[in-house]
Amino acid sequence: MRTQVAIIGAGPAGMLLAHLLAAEGIAATVIERRDRNYVEGRVRAGVLEQGTTDLLRRLGVAARLDREGLVHEGTSIAIDGASFRIDFAALTGGRSVTVYGQQEVMRDLFDAAAPRGIEIIWNAEEVTLEDIDSARPVVRWRQDGEENWLECDFIAGCDGYHGVSRASIPASVLKSFERIYPFGWLGILADVPPVDHELIYANHERGFALASMRSATRSRYYIQCGLDEQIEDWPDERFWDELCLRLGEEVGGRVTRGPSFEKSIAPLRSFVAEPMRWSRLFLAGDAAHIVPPTGAKGMNLAASDVAMLAEALADHYRRGSDAGLDGYSGRALARVWKAERFSWWFTSITHRFPELDGFARRIQQAEIDYIRTSPAAQRSLAENYVGLPLEAA
Ligand code: APR
Ligand code: PHB
Repeated sequence: MRTQVAIIGAGPAGMLLAHLLAAEGIAATVIERRDRNYVEGRVRAGVLEQGTTDLLRRLGVAARLDREGLVHEGTSIAIDGASFRIDFAALTGGRSVTVYGQQEVMRDLFDAAAPRGIEIIWNAEEVTLEDIDSARPVVRWRQDGEENWLECDFIAGCDGYHGVSRASIPASVLKSFERIYPFGWLGILADVPPVDHELIYANHERGFALASMRSATRSRYYIQCGLDEQIEDWPDERFWDELCLRLGEEVGGRVTRGPSFEKSIAPLRSFVAEPMRWSRLFLAGDAAHIVPPTGAKGMNLAASDVAMLAEALADHYRRGSDAGLDGYSGRALARVWKAERFSWWFTSITHRFPELDGFARRIQQAEIDYIRTSPAAQRSLAENYVGLPLEAA
């Protein structure tokens, strides 16, 4: 078998890239380790930057997003129960974000794949990448006990943090940069109306809390928790009590409680691998970088990476120019690092760190009060939250 671009992984990065390449008439095959139900079932964040919604519209997969997505023109920040609003629209010349779960994005991308002739190979086991630094890289995998292989011009490594792509780059080439945070997020989904029509990021002395949503009738809430905590330690009532405490009397008093139907703990990590290209292998999305979820940049970064990669591949096939491919890693990393910075900063001002002494706590309070009172500080937060342009001029 032969194709132009072999895409490893059918997450947001891989599927967006598959659609972008299909739109350019470039042949691609997606090779995914799991099945569709598994990939679509993973509960992840749900805030789309305007650049990401624009991309989905450009690809013609935004009909449901336009019907069901919730446009948010602002968000609230709370500290010890006192909250204020950041007005994205006023601060960024009318830009906004859209709340639409990653699961919904994946469903739309999968539904539109077959009609566009996008081939996805599910349940591919033991995927290996060979001859990456030759003119004809080969991807091999096993399926139902049989060996399969695919020859290609380029490999797009969109297989997430634990994938095989980054691991196929020689250690001597790859540099990685990392921060592990000494806490996690405990998240729940419940079919109750959200406490507010926008998101609330809350810094409380007991730890961070986030009030988010999936729809007008489905809430997504998170609280910061210790890395050693277990789901079983958090029956619903304990979760709701802690959430309401951290959101403060006024907001906490308005929370509608109900049974959760999903509950999970996720660790927080910042990670970047450089470069994002080795020979004919290009990394995109979580395969190359992880952000902590504060600010919801993960899926948006996957989208901006593959927008750049698709442009570079189109330049190669359509115009015979490799300048885009040669510049991909540098171009993508420039945006990735700014999102890393924002996610790290937003985490650092909103969470309770174990070593947080009186000085550090006062600095957090001062930082949040500065944002509350300074239009310049608010504008900086807003422009990062709605998403920086693909590159600064
Ligand atoms: N071979 C084939 N597929 C693989 C392999 C492998 N060896 N390893 C992992 N995969 C698949 C996973 O099963 C998954 O479906 O690659 C996909 C990677 O998807 P994500 O982890 O979602 O990564 P990405 O597409 O970069 O999306 C980044 O989406 O899931 C969120 O938290 C993530 O917000 C971030 C964004
Ligand atoms: C979510 O709704 O899952 C969500 C929203 C905002 C974040 C992180 C997660 O910053």
